[in-house]
Amino acid sequence: MKLASSGDSAVATKSLLDQWDREHSWHPFTQMEEYAAWPQLHVERGEGCWLYDTDGNRYLDGNASIWAAAHGHGDPEIDQALKDQIDRVAHSTYLGLSHPNGALLGKKLVESAPRDLKRAVFSDNGSNAIEIALKLSFQYWQLVGKPEKRLIVGMADGYHGDTFGAMSAGNSQAFHGRFDPWLFESRVFPAPSCDTVNGAVSSEDASESLAVLEKILSSERDRIAAVIFEPLAQGPAGMRMQPMGFAKEVEHLCRQYGVHLILDEVFVGCGRMGKIFACEWEGVNPDFVCLAKGLSAGYLPLAATLTTERIYEAFLGDFESGRAFFHGHTFTGNPLAATVALKSLEKLERLIESGRLERTIAYFGERFEAVFGDHSNVGSLRQRGMAAAIDLTPGEGREPWSLNDRVGLQVCMAARDCGLLLRPLLDSILIVPPLTIGADEIDFLFDNLKKPLEATMKKIGN
Ligand SMILES: Cc1ncc(COP(=O)(O)O)c(C=O)c1O
Repeated sequence: MKLASSGDSAVATKSLLDQWDREHSWHPFTQMEEYAAWPQLHVERGEGCWLYDTDGNRYLDGNASIWAAAHGHGDPEIDQALKDQIDRVAHSTYLGLSHPNGALLGKKLVESAPRDLKRAVFSDNGSNAIEIALKLSFQYWQLVGKPEKRLIVGMADGYHGDTFGAMSAGNSQAFHGRFDPWLFESRVFPAPSCDTVNGAVSSEDASESLAVLEKILSSERDRIAAVIFEPLAQGPAGMRMQPMGFAKEVEHLCRQYGVHLILDEVFVGCGRMGKIFACEWEGVNPDFVCLAKGLSAGYLPLAATLTTERIYEAFLGDFESGRAFFHGHTFTGNPLAATVALKSLEKLERLIESGRLERTIAYFGERFEAVFGDHSNVGSLRQRGMAAAIDLTPGEGREPWSLNDRVGLQVCMAARDCGLLLRPLLDSILIVPPLTIGADEIDFLFDNLKKPLEATMKKIGN
């Protein structure tokens, strides 16, 4: 088939696109040797929860384009806001200048945020939002005369992004272990355990996690700057849930031992857990919250690090004091991205206030349990908010799978033939659709995941 390229006259065949991609692209988080052997898929357009490839095939976007497309694709209100902003200005720096939608977005975010968060520092991706929180905490302790407080405590299997600070604060050995020699010193506490489907908790245990955290804090409080973790669920670790009330306990410990609390809401924020801020569920009042992904609804790169007036004020002084925070990016607070985020937040508020998001979450959980609850190749199911995970397992009496079997990947590749796009995490399937997904689309999602799952199991003899 012929398709138009970004220029208005150039055309390229699908096979030419395949060739350019194979010869010149290097995709993120992808073993390229493996990728080169896959059939390629070039997404050409999107509408609602659906993406269309260059052959006109349509796919349900089961991972919301890596957890970002909160309102699906081509939302008419967001598109219009973006067009209006393009007619005004596409980019103008936030370094020493402001613009109307940047100022308004900061105000809106702070108004919906937990009590003490009063300032928004913008950046352009989740890793940078984390990097900024870490640096603000580090510099704050220097500015208040406690420079020895610079250790970060993170949760086991925490993933906060791929920049060096984010990797140091995280504990994702599988992704980042090889960079250990370049990472700064940090401490780790275990994650609590909690199995939940459709809001119902079947087992939970936070005691060891909290006990280890308290031990670390009590023995090194004078050296610790901050504790960082994702509240409610560790998304990139495979939707590992935490018992309700856990984040509040961590907040108490942070207050007791005088360290900052940084919440990574890059994944769980912006409606993914049913509220704008996931920490609202427990009334947690952190020192920093990091947002990205759904903040700009998957349209444009935008992130925000929210913090308190107390931290902000420590950075004030005359220029010579050197107290200013010297960190920023070319596209910090980009006007187009800020415009999209404003419209997206407005729509998210409507989705929550109308009760629609709550109803969608309830149906998503019910159908998930109904379709996969008793499946013999499902080791465990986890779901909270609009996020779910299935851990696949060999049938009873079968040999364990090896890493190279790539069972999760095989299921996701087969799902494409059923009109469904998903991304696995090893042998787990992560399901993170747009928040606006309809009931019939939820039915489609689970039915068309079950088919390739069963076909793959049959193919590999399970
Ligand atoms: C919880 C969490 N934190 C941070 C990040 C990093 O965000 P980004 O990929 O925008 O740098 C991610 C990305 O998946 C994430 O899921």
